[in-house]
Amino acid sequence: MKRRQVPSSGTAGSLYEALADELTAAIRSGRLPAGSSLPSLRECAAQRKLSLNTVNAAYRLLEDRGLIAARPQSGFYVRSELAEPEFAFRRIAKDVMSPAQVDLMTSVLQAQQQPGHMDLAFAGPRGKRFYPGERLARITSSVLRRHGEIVATYALPPGSLLLREQIALRSSRLGMDLTADCIVLTHGAMEALQLALRAVTQAGDYVGIEAPSYFNIYPLLAALGLKAIEIPTHPQHGLDVDSVEHLLLQKRVAAVVAMPTVHNPLGCSMPVEAKQRLAQLLHQHRTPLIEDMVYAELQFREPLEPTIKSFDRMGWVLACGGFSKTLAPDYRIGWIVGGRYQEAVQRLKFASSASESMLLTEAVGQFLKSGGYEHHLRTLRRLYASQVATVRGWIAQAFPEGTRATQPTGGFVLWVELPPQVDSLKLFHAALARGIVIMPGQVYSKGPRYRHFLRLSCCQDIDDRFAAAIRTLGQLAAELLAGEVCEHGNH
Ligand SMILES: Cc1ncc(COP(=O)(O)O)c(C=O)c1O
Repeated sequence: MKRRQVPSSGTAGSLYEALADELTAAIRSGRLPAGSSLPSLRECAAQRKLSLNTVNAAYRLLEDRGLIAARPQSGFYVRSELAEPEFAFRRIAKDVMSPAQVDLMTSVLQAQQQPGHMDLAFAGPRGKRFYPGERLARITSSVLRRHGEIVATYALPPGSLLLREQIALRSSRLGMDLTADCIVLTHGAMEALQLALRAVTQAGDYVGIEAPSYFNIYPLLAALGLKAIEIPTHPQHGLDVDSVEHLLLQKRVAAVVAMPTVHNPLGCSMPVEAKQRLAQLLHQHRTPLIEDMVYAELQFREPLEPTIKSFDRMGWVLACGGFSKTLAPDYRIGWIVGGRYQEAVQRLKFASSASESMLLTEAVGQFLKSGGYEHHLRTLRRLYASQVATVRGWIAQAFPEGTRATQPTGGFVLWVELPPQVDSLKLFHAALARGIVIMPGQVYSKGPRYRHFLRLSCCQDIDDRFAAAIRTLGQLAAELLAGEVCEHGNH
């Protein structure tokens, strides 16, 4: 793969990005089919009254996205695109978690802590362009200067009124109508999920979860003595509502946990009509949904699509959110709206960890109130949309034939399906030996379902080192594939 310089996304009002986006849309819609030629740089510049440099930068971005390629002597043509993963689902055994899955998560965590490693597994804003550290430091120190006494006492649940009011105010952007008094601040979204599960289930119950699912849900269910039933989840449309209905009719689950708006690791959202239908079904079957919306504000397109909580008239949805993906994981600030389980949630929170740091929650509250958070989110959305498209293009160039990758509509992770012969656990170890950490598919399900999948995070600068890591991964995947093909023949 040739190394490309990616122009920094701040240049020249991003005229070239606008052109690249327009051509991307034309390619994706089929108006510019695979194999067709693009106008030459000069023709395009003349047609659109743009500078040659702008058109050149746009074409380079399209090359990086894997959408076009240069043909010697005859200009640029549209490549056939990296396909998306297909929707395929087979039932598997019901143990909550395999010991291998636990060991693997531990190995990934240990690998991530190795200094100097290229970490493509970590999912959180990393680096100055993604984390407004200076602004937050200024606000935090100003809160401390003006209200130094807040660190000398215990805050009480439900936590900072300022932050809860701000979360409530923002909720309309996601179609919700939350009020400050229905929000409880939690220790990250992880605690919100835990409180929600404890409020609606008892040990021994079955809980419906998505496949693939956020990997920490497995140890959480195991710790609470709950059993998982995996529900088919489509790589483009999210949770399959027919399958949920089937489970609800059989009365097999005490609750469902899902990420309907910007799924991790799929990066997709359920269509709005499917969300509405699911909200109705939950009410009809009197079954709670724990809606994990930590990535929902990272939808690429505005206006943002509504959450399922928006359609919940009777309080069956427990909404869980937080700031780890949009601001900084270390603040450990999450929140929950318990719906009809609100009292239980509040009681459990008090018994679990009493309250969150008033200093940090007030600082984040101020950041939201100042408008800084909204501005930051707008920047992140554009940046992540462009980064995942670019890395997807690099994957198309570097990975073996038959590789597929999601086209996220939000968030910053790519879910990559390798040819079925490639074991992503072997790839994980081979990559680790080269100083690269990936999230192998095996942690996303209790069985071998995602043995040939991996997740790559694009929430840091996608610089030369990042591009080199993608090339190395592609090469290692190709070597593993060749090894398997030699050993077992190609079936
Ligand atoms: C889908 C999802 N839900 C919840 C969490 C937990 O978030 P927090 O760091 O706020 O506890 C994560 C973090 O990776 C996540 O990806």
